[in-house]
Amino acid sequence: MSNIELKNIKKNYGKTTVIEGLDLSVADGEFVVLVGPSGCGKSTTLRMIAGLEDITGGDLLIDDKLMNLVSPTDRGIAMVFQDYALYPHMTVYENLAFSLRLKKAPKKTIEERITAAAEMLSLTPYLERKPADLSGGQRQRVAMGRAIVKKSNVFLYDEPLSNLDAKLRHKMRTEIKRFHIQAKTTSVYVTHDQLEAMTLGDKLVVMSDGKVEQIGTPLEIYQRPMSKFVATFIGNPTINMFTCEVVKEDDTLLIKEANGVFKFTLPESKQELLSEGMKVSMGIRPSDIFISKKNDHLPPEWRIDGKVDMVELLGKNAFLTMKSNDILFQSEVMGSEFPQIGETKLLSFNLNHIHLFDDATGINLLYK
Ligand SMILES: Nc1ncnc2c1ncn2[C@@H]1O[C@H](COP(=O)(O)OP(=O)(O)OP(=O)(O)O)[C@@H](O)[C@H]1O
Ligand SMILES: [Mg+2]
Repeated sequence: MSNIELKNIKKNYGKTTVIEGLDLSVADGEFVVLVGPSGCGKSTTLRMIAGLEDITGGDLLIDDKLMNLVSPTDRGIAMVFQDYALYPHMTVYENLAFSLRLKKAPKKTIEERITAAAEMLSLTPYLERKPADLSGGQRQRVAMGRAIVKKSNVFLYDEPLSNLDAKLRHKMRTEIKRFHIQAKTTSVYVTHDQLEAMTLGDKLVVMSDGKVEQIGTPLEIYQRPMSKFVATFIGNPTINMFTCEVVKEDDTLLIKEANGVFKFTLPESKQELLSEGMKVSMGIRPSDIFISKKNDHLPPEWRIDGKVDMVELLGKNAFLTMKSNDILFQSEVMGSEFPQIGETKLLSFNLNHIHLFDDATGINLLYK
């Protein structure tokens, strides 16, 4: 098996720096997801690991061996791309056999590996078909199969599901996860889809502009985002951000929204971390804003009136767009009855779960 280590990895194209000193450890058997918006450098990082892109600076180690100058074929890796890159004139079997035949593997070995991979990926009935006669999901599985038969210790995936429709994407996501649990190959997976990242990764690397914003488990990233960028990027629906100032009244700190939407007393646990006059963004997830109930156990002063501006009904929950003092924000509510557009509702804000970001730096003030 294999571990991967990136030490202060840099990438320049001419004078343009696209990766700035990236440090990352991928443990043996770990599934690490690089996630971030388009252009942040995910594919470039993956391609440097694969050897498809030169490394400008820093060290890349696989299995504790320096790999910077080792050719892609000698790195013991397999790569699955977004465009499956199957040979159209070959059958599924021949596509799967291709790399092994190139390496002059014995016929029996080729047959055994293909049978096992086809079984694992439910491709056995399709081995004699050509790629054109397969669905998108089946083609994607053949692409995975090609990587599996190589018995590589490291799997690199670059947006492998982005050509599939939503339902198939979900199905393949589960299959990739199942494959990983079975095979326990060390994996690095690139996506800009935060849902894919959250559900697949043992560890997420949130990137922005060629830099690492935060590394952590999906739950750590969701519950303790270290910056406004991470909080906004991870989570669906997107976290609400309110422009606020910390004010003091009767020796108690309050958080005052800039447009007069609210002025809430801060929970005691957050008082000591802040001081009067600070300009902050208050992040609160839609699931922490809900229609008030008598027994919601929140202080009465954490409530405001809001007008229902839009309702997106999803079945057992709904996303409400609420309006207060011309400011729009989202609330996620569960249940069987939902309010109508135009109604005014009393909303509770669970301030125990808020994040406060320094307006100047974007850093989460609660985890300094
Ligand atoms: N050959 C190149 N020459 C110059 N700049 C490049 C080259 N290849 C990529 N870049 C730039 O490097 C940056 C990172 O690109 P990269 O493909 O790694 O992004 P990404 O995070 O994979 O984005 P996406 O989600 O769109 O695939 C981008 O700004 C891109 O324009
Ligand atoms: Mg990319």
